[in-house]
Order: sequence, then C-alpha cells, then structure tokens
Amino acid sequence: MNLSLLCSKLILHKKSFLQLVALKLFESYNKFILKKTFRPEYEILIDYYLSKEENKNLDHISIIEFGVASGKSLKYLEDLKIKFEKRYKVEIRLFGFDSFEGMPKTENIYDQPYDWNKGDYISDYHKVQSKVKSANLIKGDIKNTVNPDLFESYNISNILIILFDLDYFSSTINSFKIFENSFSSYMLPRVGLFFDNIHSSSEISGEYYSIQNFNNENIKNGKIISKDFYLEKFDNRYYQFLNLNHKLFSVNKKKKQIL
Ligand SMILES: C[S@@+](CC[C@H](N)C(=O)[O-])C[C@H]1O[C@@H](n2cnc3c(N)ncnc32)[C@H](O)[C@@H]1O
Repeated sequence: MNLSLLCSKLILHKKSFLQLVALKLFESYNKFILKKTFRPEYEILIDYYLSKEENKNLDHISIIEFGVASGKSLKYLEDLKIKFEKRYKVEIRLFGFDSFEGMPKTENIYDQPYDWNKGDYISDYHKVQSKVKSANLIKGDIKNTVNPDLFESYNISNILIILFDLDYFSSTINSFKIFENSFSSYMLPRVGLFFDNIHSSSEISGEYYSIQNFNNENIKNGKIISKDFYLEKFDNRYYQFLNLNHKLFSVNKKKKQIL
C-alpha cells in the first residue's frame, strides 16, 4: 500500500484526539513546508473507485471539480492524477468548473448568505490557467456550463468522480443538472461524490439541502445521491450517485465469489 494513502486513512479513520493532532501536523507540513493544500479525502475517494473491479479495464476516466477558486485543490488533484495514472494504468482527465468571479450575489435564503459574501474566493482565470498543467478549466456560471455540447467539445466521458465545492445551495443544485438523463452517456454507472461544505450546511440550507431536494424529486425515477456507507468511516462528506436507468447499471464485472 502507498504510504501517503495509508497515512490519510490512519488520520481520518474515526478521528480520535491523536488523529486530529496528526491531521493538523500533516496540514501544516503541506501548507508551510511543501506550500500545498492537503486533501486526503480526495485521495481516498479516487483510490477507492479506481480499485473497484468494475472500473479496472477502463482506458480513461474523468474527474470533475465544481468550484476551483485559485486552483489549490485542482493542483492537488493534478498530483493525484500522476500517481493514480501510474498505479491503475488509466488516463485521468481533470475538469474544473468555475466563474472565477467568486461567489455570486444571492438573495436566496437557502444559500446561507450569513456565511459568504458576493465575490468571496475571486480568482484570476489566466493565473489559474498558468498554474495548472493538465487540468481543463471551464469558465462561466455553472447553470450555463453544465451542458452536453460543452461536455462533447471537451471530451468529458467516463465520469467517475465529482467533487462539489460551490458552497451555495443554488449553485450546487444547478450543478446537479449533470445527473439529468442527457448526461447519462458521459457518466459511469456509479459515481463517487464529495461535498466539501456538508459540515457547514444543514437540513434546510446549503449543500445538504440540495442533496435532500434532489432526492425528493428523483428517487421515484430511480436516481439517488446516496451516502457512501463504506467511506463514511473516514469522512461523512462522501456520497455516491446511482442511476438505476443507466445502461450499464446492472452489468456485473466481478470475478466469481466463493466463501
Ligand atoms: C470555496 S471556493 C472553491 C475552493 C476550491 N475548491 C479549493 O479548495 O481550493 C467556491 C468557488 O465556487 C465558485 N462558484 C460558486 N457559485 C458558482 C456558480 N454559480 N457558477 C460558477 N462558479 C461558482 C466561486 O467562484 C468560488 O471560486
């Protein structure tokens, strides 16, 4: 097993006081010595999905990040890309969606306007572009950029992982357009999700509320954003998108199992 993955798991698993201390130490080491952000949750999620039998023979996958800001987390994903491409012999395509104008103005009470101001996390698209090596940046409001023509032109396919970091309820629910049937051909049947702001949201606001809203509308049609009951021991922000109508949903690629 890879050392950093092992450390990530040890640090996150059922956080005790000692694990919290280790997490802080690792965060500080990355921030002040390596001058990088540290997202062990991403590494665990990507490794878990790539290690699944059903994803073993894919020639490429796509990872989407909704909410890029200055590109710190996307840079971290680029490092993971290099590592996992080698380990799993798969091409990893990275796509970051952001307006690069910071948080939009909102009067939507479900957006938790008490937490964010218009323009928070504003960044410079060209600077971010020069910082990232291989990731594709898609600039614009999420309600316009999540569209099939754009996915086609950027060659986004085999989507396996989506990382949500748009903070607002309204922006997150707009990004859920990606779960509509018109995007089904770009997705793998089970997609790993991470919601960065679940911790600051609630049952009536923010990211958590957008998930509840989506499920209330879509479970009857065979689609759900479900908790990930395996990964939740590391962090309760892991979810998975399941679409019973996906044409590959029931295909079983596992080897024969014997007890
Ligand atoms: C918390 S920041 C992302 C931080 C980044 N993931 C990181 O960890 O370094 C949230 C980002 O969401 C973007 N955002 C919020 N709502 C948006 C929308 N409707 N369309 C496009 N971008 C949006 C903002 O521009 C901001 O850069």
